[in-house]
Amino acid sequence: MRTDVAIIGAGPAGLLLAHLLAQDGIESVVIESRTRQYVAARIRAGILESSSVGLLRSVGLGAGIEAGGDEHRGIYLQWPSERHHLDFVDLAGRSVWVYGQTQLQADLAAASDAAGRPVYYGTSGAAVHDLETDRPFVTFTDAAGNPQRIDAAAVAGCDGSFGPSRAAVPAGHRQTWERAYPYSWLGILADVPPSTDELIYAWHPDGFAMHSMRSAAVSRLYLQVPNGTDAADWPDDRIWAALATRLGHGQDGWQLTPGPVTGKSVLPMRSFVQSPMRYGRLFLAGDAAHTVPPAGAKGLNLAIADVALLAPALGQLVRKNDTALAGAYSATALRRVWRCEHFSWWMTTMLHTSGDPFDAQLQLSQLRWVTSSAAGAAGLAENYAGLPIGF
Ligand code: FAD
Ligand code: PHB
Repeated sequence: MRTDVAIIGAGPAGLLLAHLLAQDGIESVVIESRTRQYVAARIRAGILESSSVGLLRSVGLGAGIEAGGDEHRGIYLQWPSERHHLDFVDLAGRSVWVYGQTQLQADLAAASDAAGRPVYYGTSGAAVHDLETDRPFVTFTDAAGNPQRIDAAAVAGCDGSFGPSRAAVPAGHRQTWERAYPYSWLGILADVPPSTDELIYAWHPDGFAMHSMRSAAVSRLYLQVPNGTDAADWPDDRIWAALATRLGHGQDGWQLTPGPVTGKSVLPMRSFVQSPMRYGRLFLAGDAAHTVPPAGAKGLNLAIADVALLAPALGQLVRKNDTALAGAYSATALRRVWRCEHFSWWMTTMLHTSGDPFDAQLQLSQLRWVTSSAAGAAGLAENYAGLPIGF
């Protein structure tokens, strides 16, 4: 096959990049190792920044958000006996949207189908070649077991934290930074209306807890658990009891309503960045280049921001052989990446208990500051609600 851009990975970064390129008249072929059903069913992120929503709307992908998204003015931050609302619209002039990654993934797959764009699911053995030349190519085996080759002007590595693209950059040409955390999240999806109008992030001596949602009928909740936790050790009753304690059931009359649990998983967390996000004709985007712990709600938004920058750069490269934007891509993207890395690390370390009493006092002091000082609150709001796309 010959195309303009070969894209590895059909997650949000890969499918949105294919959509943005097509709007600019640039062809692409996407390959994905998982099945279409697996990709469609994955439960992941839930919050879109207003700049992500603005971008999606501007490229004809806003209908699902209009119909099924829920605009939130802010979040609640709490610790035992205190709950505070931070209003991002008042503090930073921007809202956020609750819109599940699963819904966005479905919108992107539908747009891809409607335009007849090629996406190969169930592939194996993806490998990139001749990245230092202007004729790179990708080889893989398709779902039927046939070897395939895609010749392109550029390759986009949108293959997440475990794909082959980031390791295809030779060791002497990349630098990585990594931080592992001594805790994980136990996440549940439950068929019960949310017990809150906006997300609750709760500090508690037993560990962090969060109340999020997917719709008026579906709640998404998380508990901090030790690394290596087996979800089987957490029957539903134990989960709801821990959530009730940590989220403050009964506090000022607030009630947590439990309901049937339809999904349960343990999510380890880490921070990771690989720089530069380009090597020759290979461009990394989304989780392929960086990972953030989820407490800042940044992973999906960063993937969207990366491809919003990358699409015009690839357009110039393919159409005019102009490398100006392609050359600037990595440095420009990494400015936002590092801002979000810091914010995600900061939210994580402010909210998760470490077992150290000194840490706990610092965390409570920090929480009091961001909920009582206009400057502290505005800093959190500006970062959470998101920086403009061109930041
Ligand atoms: P991905 O969505 O990971 O997509 C990469 C795609 O590449 C995948 O479909 C993968 O199957 C494919 N791929 C991998 N290897 C190959 C290969 N060899 N060949 C072809 N294709 C390949 N963020 C939040 O903000 N909040 C959350 O609650 C949250 N929860 C998460 C839970 C989990 C379990 C995970 C893994 C991530 C979570 N994230 C969360 C992060 C967020 O979902 C990601 O930041 C986002 O999916 C990034 O999109 P992406 O397209 O870059 O990567
Ligand atoms: C979610 O709804 O899954 C979600 C929301 C906000 C976060 C992390 C996860 O910070």
